[in-house]
Amino acid sequence: MNYRKLETRNPAAIREMFSRIAPRYDFLNHLLSFNIDRHWRKRVCRRLDDILENPAAVVLDLACGTGDLSIELKNVGKAKIFGVDFCHPMLQLAMQKTDSVPFIEGDGLNLPFEDLCFDAVTIAFGLRNFADWELGLRESYRVLKPFGRLVVLEFSTPVVPGFKQVFDFYFNKILPFVGGFLSRSMEAYAYLPRSVSHFPDQDGLKRMMEHVGFSKVEYENLTGGIAAVHCAWKL
Ligand SMILES: C[S@@+](CC[C@H](N)C(=O)[O-])C[C@H]1O[C@@H](n2cnc3c(N)ncnc32)[C@H](O)[C@@H]1O
Repeated sequence: MNYRKLETRNPAAIREMFSRIAPRYDFLNHLLSFNIDRHWRKRVCRRLDDILENPAAVVLDLACGTGDLSIELKNVGKAKIFGVDFCHPMLQLAMQKTDSVPFIEGDGLNLPFEDLCFDAVTIAFGLRNFADWELGLRESYRVLKPFGRLVVLEFSTPVVPGFKQVFDFYFNKILPFVGGFLSRSMEAYAYLPRSVSHFPDQDGLKRMMEHVGFSKVEYENLTGGIAAVHCAWKL
């Protein structure tokens, strides 16, 4: 695996990396996050309670991977959920989990949907991996209906002094080793902290969303800012 290419978020390299780790992705997600990732995904659903309650609403879970957020969105409400990802092996695992969510192979930078067709778009731990973050946000904006909502869950910058140092040690030293060893892909779990360090922090992502045209952008820090959930409206 070519680190330089990964650092510039070469889409083919990213897809190949997720193809390789797909079989162990869920297991490692839950293990390395001490299961906190499940709680974080529920926070995304909370941001969409009203939309999810509506049986006529249509929600896109972009970069859905193995489908955990898509399934959570489906289970808490009555809305129609679609999952999209460009990595076939990840989608195959998603399809094995449920047949109540259509999973579609597609690129988040060139979505296979017309303008104005979704009431909400979610992206969990996906945007950071896009070759072009702004373009990913623009595509989400394009497919959202007026008054539609975007919710992005992503790793972010811990805000609690002391905790930040402990977390940085875990995230940069322990996680890459354990994740790399168990996934048999040292590159993928070395890439994870590096990609987070290159990604904008909470306020940087908020500004990027505003720049793309989203309104009323707000965010909530999760677990001391390890992750953040950003919520934005297309008005
Ligand atoms: C870390 S996983 C997150 C999966 C899932 N959302 C979750 O919460 O576990 C990142 C996903 O983003 C997908 N991805 C990255 N770039 C993409 C793109 N341009 N279009 C669609 N999916 C993309 C990858 O294939 C991968 O499945």
